[in-house]
Amino acid sequence: MRLKIAVLAGDGIGPEVTKQATNILRAVAEMGGHEFTFVEGLIGGTAITETGSPLPTGTLDAALECDAVLLGAVGDNKFNALPPDKRPEAGLLQIRQALGGFANLRPSIAYTALSASSPLRPEVTKDVDILFVRELLGGLYFGAPRWWDRDSNEAINTMRYTRDEVVRVARVAFELAGNRRQKVTSVDKANVLEVSQLWRATVTEVAKDYPSVTLEHQLVDSMAMHIMNIPRNFDVVLTENLFGDILSDEAGVITGSLGMLPSATIGGAVNLYEPVHGSAPDIAGTGKANPLGAILTAAMILRHSANLEQDAKAVEAAVNKVLDAGYRTADIARGQQPGQTPVSTQEMGKLV
Ligand code: NAI
Ligand code: MG
Repeated sequence: MRLKIAVLAGDGIGPEVTKQATNILRAVAEMGGHEFTFVEGLIGGTAITETGSPLPTGTLDAALECDAVLLGAVGDNKFNALPPDKRPEAGLLQIRQALGGFANLRPSIAYTALSASSPLRPEVTKDVDILFVRELLGGLYFGAPRWWDRDSNEAINTMRYTRDEVVRVARVAFELAGNRRQKVTSVDKANVLEVSQLWRATVTEVAKDYPSVTLEHQLVDSMAMHIMNIPRNFDVVLTENLFGDILSDEAGVITGSLGMLPSATIGGAVNLYEPVHGSAPDIAGTGKANPLGAILTAAMILRHSANLEQDAKAVEAAVNKVLDAGYRTADIARGQQPGQTPVSTQEMGKLV
């Protein structure tokens, strides 16, 4: 298997965690006889410092020639005085847009060893393994018209979807569910919103092509409660843009730490993989960053861009094993509990 991966490490802890993620990919390549090549590119604050732009054209061109993009994180307080479209974060928005992925995948997994890190009771989070499939290019965040009229004090955003936009993201959800526990929960507000009625009708139609997958519909408000009460009832959760933004953050609580959460955005020119966390300037350079979110993101590259499901599972199993053995970066350590060994970013990566 050959894979060319653009590595855009970015700012703060971005380079620290992506280094551990690429080490894992190198190890997988070596053990499996795969040929992975890495192309480094600038993004964010480091790109501004070196080139004046948060997303230099060289970075975008290189990314478009790769099979996958691994992005660390962007953001640096020293650029706070710049207008929003010149700041490091603009580079992230630009590359997401340029790559054009429409399906954002966010797993929410309960690690037994970390059950004390979640505010939810262990008996509630036990065995939870949810995969959110969030539509990323439509809905309220992009719909027109959108404006704020400061004279009349009125503002408008538009929730809009076409059938085709729903079909393509629904297919992603059903395909993924086929390799998991064969269940899709589609989230909407069909009792109030026309857009949700279109969503529900379209998802129901797409489901007919996947007879082995069970489809259930949930209204977004009650879904917000179910995720906290009975999270293990869910496998793949399919949502429009805004609902998925909110629910996937809510479900992040199940895993316990921001530093543990991976993501992938697929369906565009090149898939984009990023840990959910930001550049964490408060801990950058201290060796405290948890690299597991980035490492689990690398596992998603193996699964979704290399079709190496067994290798992806092996990486995830290694993460579990290291956690079960008690190794903890600071964000997932809880006091001085017996059986826990504090480790640095680099040590954690090496252990995995
Ligand atoms: P953040 O995610 O960087 O940090 C929030 C808190 O979580 C901090 O206390 C941080 O130390 C901790 N944390 C985050 N990742 C961690 C890890 N891997 N290991 C251990 N602890 C971790 O969010 P914040 O502080 O709101 O933003 C900082 C900068 O990052 C800002 O410039 C923001 O714009 C940017 N940002 C970038 C994102 C991205 O590149 N995808 C996403 C979110 C924020
Ligand atoms: Mg969000």
